[in-house]
Amino acid sequence: MTTLTVPRLKDSPNWVYLLREFDALYRHGSAGGSPAIRAHRRTVRDRLSAAMARNPDILPRARDVKPVTAHLARALDLGERAAMQGMARALREVRDELTWEYGYERISKALSQKYAYCEILGPQGPVQCENLILGFVLFAPSTTYPQHSHQEIEESYISVAGAWSENNAAVFAPGSLILNRSGDEHRITTGDREPCLLAYAWTGPEERLKNPNMRLTGTRKTKVRS
Ligand SMILES: [Fe+2]
Repeated sequence: MTTLTVPRLKDSPNWVYLLREFDALYRHGSAGGSPAIRAHRRTVRDRLSAAMARNPDILPRARDVKPVTAHLARALDLGERAAMQGMARALREVRDELTWEYGYERISKALSQKYAYCEILGPQGPVQCENLILGFVLFAPSTTYPQHSHQEIEESYISVAGAWSENNAAVFAPGSLILNRSGDEHRITTGDREPCLLAYAWTGPEERLKNPNMRLTGTRKTKVRS
């Protein structure tokens, strides 16, 4: 008689390599002289290395795609030619295991065609961790991701592919890191010719990471991650 065992991280080299790319990103490189970004980077890498040392379970999640994932191949191709090539290559190796989702109970038809995210590590898995979420968000060309904020959550984005802007403040290229602190309102727009792929990290209290309850500002749409 055989018993089914839950795979652990160390049994899954592709997830290990992808997490090592996150670790390298948050361990090396510069905080640009910003104490807030330096502290955030330290929190992410400390929580990630503690999680990897625990050799956590890989939780079973059903593969899912969304309309925007038709742009993933192009985004990875662009990513492999730019500053984040290691991350793009490692993501390519798990692309058939990703669970792409919207997170919102209701989403506009336009946004549902142009946006989705997938988690790599967090309370819902696939790599189980209670105090950190790592993932990717993918946007089609010419997307506006509406204004929103996150209570009690610090969010960083690192560009993997494509050009994008936040709050009309700058144009970010692969390798750029942007920090949104708790409560910071932000709105994202992407370039009109190519898709945009961002890696992200969320830190915050465990209860909040389990249930972010995020809202698009000025709407009643609620973010659920159940
Ligand atoms: Fe955000």
